Amino acid sequence: MKRSIVHWPDPVLTTPTRPVTDFGADLQQLLDEMTEAMHAAEGIGIAANQVGVPLRVALVGRGDGSYFEIVNPEILETSEPVSYREGCLSVPGEWAECPRFRRVRVRYQDRVGASLELDAEDRVAHVLQHEIDHLDGRVYVDRLSPLKRRLVRERTISRKRRLSRRP
Ligand code: CO
Repeated sequence: MKRSIVHWPDPVLTTPTRPVTDFGADLQQLLDEMTEAMHAAEGIGIAANQVGVPLRVALVGRGDGSYFEIVNPEILETSEPVSYREGCLSVPGEWAECPRFRRVRVRYQDRVGASLELDAEDRVAHVLQHEIDHLDGRVYVDRLSPLKRRLVRERTISRKRRLSRRP
C-alpha cells in the first residue's frame, strides 16, 4: 500500500504512539512503506504516525543519504543544549529554530527486535530527537513559543485550504 504523509495538526500526530510488540511481517511491510514515503517526499527521517500508523517506529537519516530503523526508541541521556533550524514533512513550507541537544544516547530495537544503544551527535542526534518527539505525539512546532506556534498553525491550515481548492 502506498502511504501518504499526514499533516499537522491531525490527531494521529498529536497522540503518543503505541510500542511495537509484534516483530512480524506487518512491521516489515510498514518499514518498507515508510521508506518509500520518506524517499518520495525527500525527507531525512519519518515516523510511523506521519503515515497514519500509531506505532513506535521511525526512520533516521544520516548525513550521507543512508538511514536506519528505530523501533520502540527511548532517549536515555541528553547534553549540550543547541538550536537547529527545523522543518517537517507534516508541516510543509515551514522552518524554525528549535531547541534541541547536541548529543543524545538512545536505546531502541531493530526490525527483528534486537536491542541496541547508540551515542549520537549533531545531525543524527537532531533527527533522532525530532522523530522520537513524533512518536511521543509532539511536532517540532510544539517546542516553539505559543506565538510562533499559532502563526505556523494558521499558515499551515490556510495553505491546506488553498491546496484543496485546486482542481
Ligand atoms: Co517531522
